[in-house]
Amino acid sequence: MEKRTIVTMPGDGIGKPVLEQTIRVLNAAGFEANYVHADIGWEFWCKEGNPLPDRTISLLQEHKIGLFGAITSKPKDKAAAELAPELQGKGIQYYSPIVAMRQHFDLDICMRPCKTFKGNPLNFVRRGANSIEEPLVDVMIFRQNTEGLYGGVEWTNPSDQVYDALMTHPKFKENFAWCPKPDLAVSTRIFTRKYTTRIVREAFEYAKSRGFDKVTVCEKPNVIRETSGMMLKIAQEMAKADYPGIWVEDVNIDAMMMWLTKNPENYHVIVAGNMFGDIVSDGFAGLVGGLGFACSANIGPEVAVFEPTHGSAPKYADYPVSIVNPCAMVLSAVMMLEHLGEFAMADKIRTAVAKVIEEGKVKAYDMMKLKGTPDVINNGAASSIQMADAIIAKL
Ligand code: NAI
Ligand code: MG
Repeated sequence: MEKRTIVTMPGDGIGKPVLEQTIRVLNAAGFEANYVHADIGWEFWCKEGNPLPDRTISLLQEHKIGLFGAITSKPKDKAAAELAPELQGKGIQYYSPIVAMRQHFDLDICMRPCKTFKGNPLNFVRRGANSIEEPLVDVMIFRQNTEGLYGGVEWTNPSDQVYDALMTHPKFKENFAWCPKPDLAVSTRIFTRKYTTRIVREAFEYAKSRGFDKVTVCEKPNVIRETSGMMLKIAQEMAKADYPGIWVEDVNIDAMMMWLTKNPENYHVIVAGNMFGDIVSDGFAGLVGGLGFACSANIGPEVAVFEPTHGSAPKYADYPVSIVNPCAMVLSAVMMLEHLGEFAMADKIRTAVAKVIEEGKVKAYDMMKLKGTPDVINNGAASSIQMADAIIAKL
């Protein structure tokens, strides 16, 4: 097998230990790769005024596949204050390196699977008539990753040109003309037909390949008529034209957050815009174990980056022994293997993770429902290393 090169971006805080343990698991599973380190995150904002240095972009451009841990980001004023003294006062603005990476490489397809692992003490339980039930959740969320409310097209105190354009809309004129410009903040929600079609197509292809007969569009077309409406209409037309036997279910994002606590087993393929996809995937992730298990893929036409959905958890970053659960990062690497066509290896690792969880002998602190203090290790919780050891033993 040809050796691949994977760009590793640990980033900040717990990004480092979870990525380190994940590479151990990949090695133990027999994945042959060269890993090249790339800089990203807070440290590079502070030192260089750029949390996503050009050299990192070049490495991703060259090698196409990235494994990313997590980054720390902070509000505007803190970001400015922590910038190296020689860079201060030059008007350098902080931006999220993840959002920038997604936009730069057009990583428009975000996939977030949420699946119940048998025996996980964090699985969602529901009160039945006479019993406690544990619904089996198995859902893949397709989130549009580059547009919508996170597209970054926004203003406070908009320019005359922008303001005049807004004033051409009767609703703006009627309801917001009273507001002085300096007190006006506007964030746009842009959907394009091209990228909406791409994410919806991915959802249908996935449904077809897994034999699911339904794709759920999780938006709010009754209120957000133009953007949500466009996604729903594209899905309905696509179903009719290309996917006989798959129907389109239209569920509003607010109702979805209620339904997922009542009957999460009814959903298997969900497609949504950027922000609603973010929300609904966190909701489902909570049902199947929370941040320690939530993995994701960001896929573009050329480059793909795999990452846990959790952040850098700075309060745990400096513990002498890392206590965080590496499963989310390991499962993100499993998605990478699937993307690379290494299905057998992906299966092997996922099965090993499942066995460790089902056996229940080795549990990270979150699986013991402990508060994440350094002494969880003395109370029987597995460290990040011990979790990886257990997975490796099952391989
Ligand atoms: P977070 O995801 O870092 O942590 C929230 C809490 O979840 C932690 O305190 C911990 O209790 C738990 N947790 C997270 N990962 C875990 C794991 N692997 N195992 C066990 N428990 C885990 O979110 P928070 O605290 O809101 O943000 C911290 C920093 O991370 C901020 O600077 C934020 O901007 C950044 N962030 C970065 C993201 C990314 O890199 N993709 C995503 C979310 C936040
Ligand atoms: Mg999120």
